[in-house]
Amino acid sequence: MCGIFGFVAPQPLSAELVVEALRTLEYRGYDSWGIAYTVGEPGRDELVVHKRAGRIPLSLPPAGLTTIALGHTRWATHGSVTDQNAHPHLDCTGTLALVHNGIVENYRALRASLERAGHRFQSHTDSEVFAHLLEEILKKAPSAGPNGTAMQDGRWLVDAVRHAFAQVRGLNAFIVLHRPSRQLIAVKSTSPLVVGLGPRGVFVSSDAVALVGHAHRIHYMTDDEIVVLAEDGPRFFDRCTGAPRSPRWEHLSLRPADTSLGGYPHYLIKEIHEQPRVIERILRDRLDGARQLAEFIRRSYGTFLVGCGTAGYAALCGSYLFSRIARRHVNAVIASEFKYQEHFLTDRSLVIALSQSGETVDVIEAVQAAKRRGATVAALVNVTGSTVDRLADFTVPLSAGPEQSVLSTKAYTAKLAVLLLTAHILNGSEHVGLDVLWRAVDGMQQALAPATLDRIRAIADRLVRAEHCYVIGRGLSYPTALEAALKIKEATYIHAEGFAGGELKHGVIALIEEGSPCIVFSPLDETRPDILSGAMEVRSRGAWVVGISPEPDDAFHLHVPIADVGDASPLVAIVPAQLLAYELAIRRGLDPDKPRNLAKSVTVK
Ligand code: G6P
Repeated sequence: MCGIFGFVAPQPLSAELVVEALRTLEYRGYDSWGIAYTVGEPGRDELVVHKRAGRIPLSLPPAGLTTIALGHTRWATHGSVTDQNAHPHLDCTGTLALVHNGIVENYRALRASLERAGHRFQSHTDSEVFAHLLEEILKKAPSAGPNGTAMQDGRWLVDAVRHAFAQVRGLNAFIVLHRPSRQLIAVKSTSPLVVGLGPRGVFVSSDAVALVGHAHRIHYMTDDEIVVLAEDGPRFFDRCTGAPRSPRWEHLSLRPADTSLGGYPHYLIKEIHEQPRVIERILRDRLDGARQLAEFIRRSYGTFLVGCGTAGYAALCGSYLFSRIARRHVNAVIASEFKYQEHFLTDRSLVIALSQSGETVDVIEAVQAAKRRGATVAALVNVTGSTVDRLADFTVPLSAGPEQSVLSTKAYTAKLAVLLLTAHILNGSEHVGLDVLWRAVDGMQQALAPATLDRIRAIADRLVRAEHCYVIGRGLSYPTALEAALKIKEATYIHAEGFAGGELKHGVIALIEEGSPCIVFSPLDETRPDILSGAMEVRSRGAWVVGISPEPDDAFHLHVPIADVGDASPLVAIVPAQLLAYELAIRRGLDPDKPRNLAKSVTVK
C-alpha cells in the first residue's frame, strides 16, 4: 500500500523532486514519509536521510542537489507510526538505503538470525530486514570491492539482491540505493513497479502517476525481472538466472493536467464532477470492449464478478443488472471471500475482476485462483498496465483518468456503465443501453447542478454532528445504499450503514430513534411501493428521512430530486450521496481525499 519512488540522473537534480513525487503517491498511505539521497563527490559522498511520521508538510526546508535519491510514503503494517519506523531504512554501515512496499512475511526469523550475526536494527518494521540481509550477502560477495570491474557493471549487486529477494516471503517491491556504486536497484513480486525514462534521468516508482512530467517512456516491471538504474540508464536482468533482459517500453500517455486539481479544492469533488465526461467517454470508446465482454459471458458457464470495497458494490450492482436486463445469473463475490468459493470454477468459468487500481491484493489473488483452475479472466480496470490488467485475458479499460482521492467515485460509475451496456448487448438491446446511459449522463449533470447542491448542503448542515446514519434501498438500489453508506463512513467517520429495505423489520429498525437520519433511494421502478413503506415505517418511529428519488413522497422530510433514468438509476442516484459525503467532510474539518487509516491501493492483506 506504500508509495515508493527513486531516480538516478546524469546531472544533479533537487532531491525535492522525490518529495513532489511522494505527494502524488500519498494516496497509497500517509502515516509517514521519508527520502534518502547522496551528496558530495563520488567516493567522498554522504547519504542524507530525512524521514518523519505524519503527512508530508506543505512546505519543507530546501533539499540538496543529488544524482541519486529515493523516497517512501507509508501505510503502516509492521511497526507503529513513528519517525523511526518511517522509511528509508539503512543497513548497519549506511552503505544501503531502501524503501519497501509489501510485507516480508518471514521477517521475524530473518531478523533473529541477522541479529545473531551482529546486525543492529533501528526500527520495528519488517522492511528493515532486507537492508541487513543484503548487507550480509554483500559482505561475502567476492568482487564487491569499491572499484572492481564487476562493481561497474553492477552484476554482483544484482546477484546479491537476487539472493536476498529469494529469501523473503510475501508480495514485495523494494528499491535499494547502493551509495558506493551510485546505483538504484529494484525488484518486485506482485507489488507493482514502473521504470520510466526521461530527458533528465531514469526513474522507478510504484505508480506510473508519479512519473508524469519526468518520463516519456515507461516499462511495467514483471516479477521475473531486476532493474539496475545508473547514470547511463537502466539495465534489466532475469531475477532467477541473472541473465540480461530487454524491457518493453511504452509511451506514458498521462499528462500533468490529468493529475492536477484543476481549480477544485480537493480531488474528491473534482472526480465527482468528472463523472458525466467519464461515462460519455465509455459510450464513445468502449462499445467494442463491452461487446467482447458480452461474448465472453455468452460463452461462459458460470460468471463471477469480483471486487473489493466500492468495486465490490459495483460487482453486486452488476449482478442485479445482468439479472433484470439480460436474464443471466452472474454471481457477485467480494474478492477477499472468493478463495473460499473458488471450488465452483472450471475451465468454462469466467471471472470478471473489477478494480480501479488493478493492484488490490485480494482481487489479484482471485484472478490467480481463477487462472489456476483454467477459468477465463476478464477485467474492468482503470489503471492500464496494472497487475490485474496484465493478468487478465481481456480488459475493458475504464479510462476514467487518474483517481486520486482515496474514495472511489468515477471508477465506480464507470464500472456500472460498462456492466449495464454489456448486459444490454447480451440481451440484444444495445441501442436501449446506449440510450439509457446517455440519459444518465444528463441525469448526472443535473445532480451536480446548484439546485441539487443547495439541498445537499441543507442535509449536510443537519447531519454534521450525527453519530449514525442509515441508508436503505431495494433491488438495484440496494448496492447504491451500501455504496452511499461507505462514502459517508470513509469521508466523515459517521457510522453509516446501508441496508436492503426489506431487512429493516428484521432488526435494523431497533436502531431508529427520534431524529435518526435515514436516506432512502427510491427510483421509479418495482421497488418503489415497498421502499416507501419502509421509509414511512422509520419516519413513524422518529427517523428524519431524506428521499433521493425522481418523485417526492410524503415519507420524505427532505426530497433530493434526481432524473428518472430507468435501469441506469444507480449511476445517477449515487451522485447526491457522493456530494453529501464531501460536504459533510468539509463541515467536520476532515480531509476528504485522505481519510484516516485508509489507503487507495490495498496491496497487503
Ligand atoms: C480501497 C479504496 C477503495 C476501493 C477499494 C478497492 O479500500 O479505499 O476506495 O474501492 O480499495 O480498490 P480497487 O482499486 O481494487 O478498486
